[in-house]
Amino acid sequence: MVRCAAMSRLKSTRSPRPEGLDAVFRPRSVAVIGASTRAHSIGGNLLSNLFRSGFTGKIFPINPRADVLHSVKCYPSVLDVPDEIDCAVVSVPKDGVLEVVRECARKKIRGLIVITAGFKEVGPEGAALEAKLRALTARSGMRMIGPNCMGVINAEPEYSMDATFSPTPAGFGPVAFASQSGALGVAILNVAQALKLGFTQFVSMGNKANVSSNDMLEYWENDPRTKIIALYLESFGNPRKFVRITRRISRKKPILVVKSGRTVAGAKAASSHTGALAGSEVAIDAILETCGVSRSDTIEELFDLAAALASQPLPKGDRIAILTNAGGPAIMATDAVIQHGLRLATLSAQTRRRLAVFLPPEASLGNPVDMIASASDVNYGRAAKILLGDPGVDAIIVINVTPVLYGPRGVWDALMAATRRAKKPVLSVFMANEEFYDEARSMPAHPPIYRFPEPAARVLAEMWKIGRWQTKPRGTLSRFSIKRAEIGRILNRAKRRGGGYLHADDAFAVLEAAGIPAARPVLVRRESRLAEMAERVGYPLVLKAEGAGIIHKSDVGGVAAGIRSASDLRAALAKMKANLARHGAADALEGFLLQRQANGRELVVGATNDPAIGPLVMFGMGGKYVEVFQDVKFVLPPVSREDVREAIGKLKAGTLLNGVRGEKRGDIEFLVETVLRVCAIASEFPGIAEMDINPLFVADRGRGGLAVDVRIRVAD
Ligand code: COA
Repeated sequence: MVRCAAMSRLKSTRSPRPEGLDAVFRPRSVAVIGASTRAHSIGGNLLSNLFRSGFTGKIFPINPRADVLHSVKCYPSVLDVPDEIDCAVVSVPKDGVLEVVRECARKKIRGLIVITAGFKEVGPEGAALEAKLRALTARSGMRMIGPNCMGVINAEPEYSMDATFSPTPAGFGPVAFASQSGALGVAILNVAQALKLGFTQFVSMGNKANVSSNDMLEYWENDPRTKIIALYLESFGNPRKFVRITRRISRKKPILVVKSGRTVAGAKAASSHTGALAGSEVAIDAILETCGVSRSDTIEELFDLAAALASQPLPKGDRIAILTNAGGPAIMATDAVIQHGLRLATLSAQTRRRLAVFLPPEASLGNPVDMIASASDVNYGRAAKILLGDPGVDAIIVINVTPVLYGPRGVWDALMAATRRAKKPVLSVFMANEEFYDEARSMPAHPPIYRFPEPAARVLAEMWKIGRWQTKPRGTLSRFSIKRAEIGRILNRAKRRGGGYLHADDAFAVLEAAGIPAARPVLVRRESRLAEMAERVGYPLVLKAEGAGIIHKSDVGGVAAGIRSASDLRAALAKMKANLARHGAADALEGFLLQRQANGRELVVGATNDPAIGPLVMFGMGGKYVEVFQDVKFVLPPVSREDVREAIGKLKAGTLLNGVRGEKRGDIEFLVETVLRVCAIASEFPGIAEMDINPLFVADRGRGGLAVDVRIRVAD
């Protein structure tokens, strides 16, 4: 307390008034409005947490029913406090919130943390109250966390401020955490405490009426002490902004997210392949991936990763060495390494020789290096050092199954001594009894200890992804000559009709205007003109019977492919007419469609314009099983050629395009170009609600390709 008073005097005389979010996170003085006389109440906990954490500024309890709380003078209202107040924590019943916030505004308080619940989350009445609160804070230039939140922590030693009612405190460290769920906040603090992982700031966002997760991301962007940003998100809030800023920030520091709930709208209403898949987890993953954000499924997974990032360097490659004293777990580790897209390192002859010097003849010197059950703690240290020195190794997973002779603690100490200053990550898996983990909890801050090999492999894969993202060249954005006026005209015409699907002819015209090679079908009403029109379309071509009564053309023999000449055309026509007659469909014939014939691999390229996210462009394996195989990738424009090429490389379709078993390579550059052109039109014309080019035929390398079918839905 003596220290607090001294520090606060120092702050109030020397440091300027904090502005913006600093008023919330780095205040020189905090008022707790609704600081309760009851210790086991929310207001009571808020006040005692501020004292417990050793807040270095002044604390002003506000409660008209008390004179003194925690030996500190208590005031009836903030207006009665003689000093300046930077931040107020509000924990009064909801009907009193507006009034106390008005008083805060009059007192020129710049930061607010509103704990009180009963706003937007409870329905229209609460939403109306929240709107008033939002307007009030905006008018008076206050920054507000909440309402309906658990509060904030700034664990920096200069502030040491716990303005939450959480029973678990937070230590100081490199992680900044924003949680959209208050209740989960306590769990987050518990996990962090168990892992000895500290925070710069922790914030429970509540209803985000004034400060959003995006604001927090920007607040932490250039904060030198925040090395890792972690978010628990239920929605993206302003997704376009989220995408824009995370793309920028994730190049500087890792952003880890647990995203629950499905927020990409439009999935249910969608009728295109792209629209249907856009609402899926595949698309959310893609969004986060294109932003360089690492997604974890659970808080536990997120902290597994955060703890590794906090203590280990990023790997410079994907070649993993496994060091073990037991065969089974090493096999599990090998499987997990491969499954997560990493590789097993090939150890150099020198490494093997150096290992052979002290390991028993029964040991396996390949990778995994199995030192067998008799492995001593000293040998763990020596072997780890040798593996770290191998230029073909980028990271190590060390596995220890408690043997009879050597306790895990000794192995751990030897390992720490040998790897403390390593420039490569070393992740440890200890399959030990509870005693060891209890002991680990009481050890000073240390690298994470995993109980099984799988999480260690997953963490390394994410670390490798993060490292690659941060060093990846930005790539260049392409510009295309597109007949914008033409596309605009077609879309406006459709919009005037109330939107919906474009007529096939218009949809093909959009593709042509976008510079995407397309086989637009030509309708020929009179048989006598077929030969002349076929010359114009160009051989080889496909002939199709056309008529309102001919629904499934191929069922009645109404499709003929592979027509290479005028004589082929005559023969195909005669056969088709006979087919139609045989199926009783001759009278339904109103004309013919001629379409250039495409060959190659069938792909799909599509776009959907989500009102919240903006355009999402999808590509992958085409044909009618698009949704069954889901071999697709999504990108968020703008993207570079390199981004698209990399995403294609991750598809099974990408493997096919590279040629399987002696097949020729497909024209990947044509696919890249088509995706980029679809990105361009989807971004420039938000009126395109959905679009599917399926199939898009991709020919052999250098031979381009052709869009054979396209559907475009225009927003009404
Ligand atoms: N100014 C100052 N103090 C005031 C006040 C005002 N305008 N109005 C009330 N108070 C004081 C009261 O005197 C009381 O003090 P006491 O405990 O010493 O009697 C204290 O504030 C609390 O008021 P009370 O009426 O007892 O309310 P409460 O403690 O039952 O509930 C909240 C208050 C804010 C905790 C409650 O309304 C709430 O919102 N709870 C949910 C919070 C939540 O879940 N948030 C999200 C977490 S993720």
